[in-house]
Amino acid sequence: MNEAQIKASEDAYLARVYQKFPVTIVKGKGATVWDVNGKEYIDCMSSYGVSLVGHCHPKVVAAIKEQSEKLISCHSSYYNDKRAELLLKLEKIVPKKLNKVFLCNSGAESVECALKAAVKYTGKTEIISMMRGFHGKTLGALSATYNLKYRGAFQQLMDQNFKFVPFGKAEKVYEAITEKTAAVIVEPVQGEGGIHVAPEGYLEEVRKICNEKNVILIFDEVQTGFGRTGKMWAGEHWGVTPDVMCVAKSMGGGMPIGATIAKEEIMDSLEVGEHSSTFGGNPLACAAACATIDVIVEEKLTERARSLGERFKKILQEMVESHHVLREVRGLGLMIGLESRTFIGDVLLKAIEKGLLLLYSGKNIIRFQPPLVIEMGQLEKAVKILDPIIAEEDKKNLNV
Ligand SMILES: Cc1ncc(COP(=O)(O)O)c(C=O)c1O
Repeated sequence: MNEAQIKASEDAYLARVYQKFPVTIVKGKGATVWDVNGKEYIDCMSSYGVSLVGHCHPKVVAAIKEQSEKLISCHSSYYNDKRAELLLKLEKIVPKKLNKVFLCNSGAESVECALKAAVKYTGKTEIISMMRGFHGKTLGALSATYNLKYRGAFQQLMDQNFKFVPFGKAEKVYEAITEKTAAVIVEPVQGEGGIHVAPEGYLEEVRKICNEKNVILIFDEVQTGFGRTGKMWAGEHWGVTPDVMCVAKSMGGGMPIGATIAKEEIMDSLEVGEHSSTFGGNPLACAAACATIDVIVEEKLTERARSLGERFKKILQEMVESHHVLREVRGLGLMIGLESRTFIGDVLLKAIEKGLLLLYSGKNIIRFQPPLVIEMGQLEKAVKILDPIIAEEDKKNLNV
């Protein structure tokens, strides 16, 4: 298929729920992707944070190939060797107290299970979520998601047991808790909401409040997990362990897989049949996730995210100082936001033209979420591409 045919098919038949960018990607390796015409791009968006170990990592490819010739599907009502192997690998890297896992296929699904387990375990119904928080677009997860752009049209279907409080203010969590509160759900670093890192002391305080009030603390690490922020789990930056953790995105090296990882007594409150997923824990996704975890550990990608992230942030800080349209750089590891004073739509399109794929977070924040295997040289090249584009924005917006 040529580019015109590909576009014609997707434009005609794919649900119009995705904002489309004018690029047709057909191949990827590490932090580089190629379009259908052979043009090369530096990938600083990783399919929204999925390709953490890089596109088509040879170990992940080999694992998928090998498993696909052996067994692709095996419902979790039967035992399976790859699923068992993945659980043991997870057990080695997740916080000690979180020792029961529900395997699913996406971030939203991992949140659904967390919410159900919290409600079932506590026998309570209210959930406290954060302003600017994002947890997915299925109805339960959407009820915990703040942005009206996503939930507005479905307000009648939103669960009325969800309350939103400002992110970063522990006293607001305290005030919102009632005798009906089952759980607090929070992203340690808000991703979709604009790359907002939890302020010092905040998560520690929320942990204390939840302990005191017998409320379950859920960390949504769908975007931050598996080393993205420079620690295996973002909660580690503050030494805080939640009662339940939601993960997905990068877990399968590109294959769809997610997990809800909880304290045993919380997960075990769900009885046989009260939750399940047909594809959850399938051997193919599990094989990809086993290889992905091996790569993260063997290639020390967590440390790499930390050191590259620090160097990259310094360069971006210099950019902020030399461009008046830029307001701030923030983030942890290789989850970085560059906030502009102006709409960044044109910046993203111009970057694509010049061979750089970026992500946005709201209308004015450029989000960098590259594969952790990216080379420093590629990040420097990304800045070389971006800098003159931002300089044009400076000229266009002299009065901001
Ligand atoms: C923090 C967080 N939670 C949940 C989700 C939903 O994940 P998915 O799109 O896989 O359902 C996302 C997706 O961006 C996310 O960033």
